[in-house]
Parts: sequence; C-alpha cells; structure tokens
Amino acid sequence: MSAPTVPGVERILFTEEQIDRRIREVAAEISHDYQGKAVKLVGVLKGSIFFLTALARHIEVPVKIDFLSISSFSNKSGAPGVVRIAKDLDEGIEGEDVLLVEDIVDTGFTLRYLLQTLAGRAPNSLYVCTFLDRKSRRIVQVPVRYRCFEIPDRFVVGFGLDHNQLYRNLGYVAVMKPEK
Ligand code: IMP
Ligand code: MG
Repeated sequence: MSAPTVPGVERILFTEEQIDRRIREVAAEISHDYQGKAVKLVGVLKGSIFFLTALARHIEVPVKIDFLSISSFSNKSGAPGVVRIAKDLDEGIEGEDVLLVEDIVDTGFTLRYLLQTLAGRAPNSLYVCTFLDRKSRRIVQVPVRYRCFEIPDRFVVGFGLDHNQLYRNLGYVAVMKPEK
C-alpha cells in the first residue's frame, strides 16, 4: 500500500517500508559495534524522536536514552552557525558510550557544536548516527559514523522532519513543493 501524500508534498523520497528496512540494517551495525557495552542514545529534539525510537527498538545491546534541544540562530549577516543548548540532558554522560542521534546533518554547524559540547563531558566514546545526510551542503566537516540515507539538495519533511513544525508525523520522507 502506498501512503497518500499531503498538500505541499511533491514526491515521496523514502517509503515507510524502505525506512524500516534501512533502520534495521543500521541497528544491526550498532548492535555489532557495541557488543558488551550499553549504548546511550542522545536524541536532538524534536526532529530525531521518530528515528531514535524506531532505531532503539531494533538495537540488541542495552540502550539508555536521553534528549537535549538546541536553538540555532542566524547572525546579523544572515549566516547560519550560531547554536546553543535550550534544554540540556537530564543526566551526565561521563564514562558512557554515547551515540548522538540526529534527524539530518546539513551544514554540520549543529553537529560540530554538539560534539564539542558533549566531548567536554568525558564520555567513554562519542559517535554520530543520523537518519539523513545532505553532504552536498556541508560547510564544516563532522564525523558521521552511521547514516541511513544520503539525500539530494532539496528540503524534506516527514519521519520527524518538519516545515514550520508540521509534517513530523508522516511515516515517509518527502520532498516539499518549492514555495511560491
Ligand atoms: P545544520 O547541519 O547545522 O545545518 O542543521 C541541521 C538542522 O537543520 C537539522 O537538525 C534540522 O533541524 C534542520 N534541517 C536541515 N535541513 C532540513 C530539511 O530538509 N527539512 C527539515 N529540517 C531541516
Ligand atoms: Mg534538528
């Protein structure tokens, strides 16, 4: 069954079935790499929650979960890159094996900031798992250990990703129609 699209959506990029299959593959990689450890998934609110929960259900080593949220600003000249933590983690991460879970890595500014901040708290290990990766727009280089899909340079919604806070609940990932 193919999901109906909604107004504003141009085409489906990844179906629910494709997403489910790929998440199981990535979860299997993680389960393999973290054998004998517990992994702490750190989700970046709100975009990563759908991906994080789907991923966590297929990971076969012990899983802990915590969340933080960030705000990003443009500076006076309109350039992106100013990020701060709006809601911090509930617990410390010292000595833990932390896997930072993102919805999408775009310019890399958000991730660079988060990695620097979390690394300063002395985790045992710190890696990144992203649902989507738009490498063509990268401005700062950031290490991404696990990715589900690489995407073209188009704005996408669904499976956690929003446009003006809408569309996060779509089960698929879709390309938005260009705004008129
Ligand atoms: P960056 O890597 O610092 O540029 O920021 C990535 C953040 O911008 C993500 O965590 C998303 O919240 C948001 N974002 C980037 N591209 C998209 C998109 O295509 N759809 C929805 N949100 C996006
Ligand atoms: Mg985000």
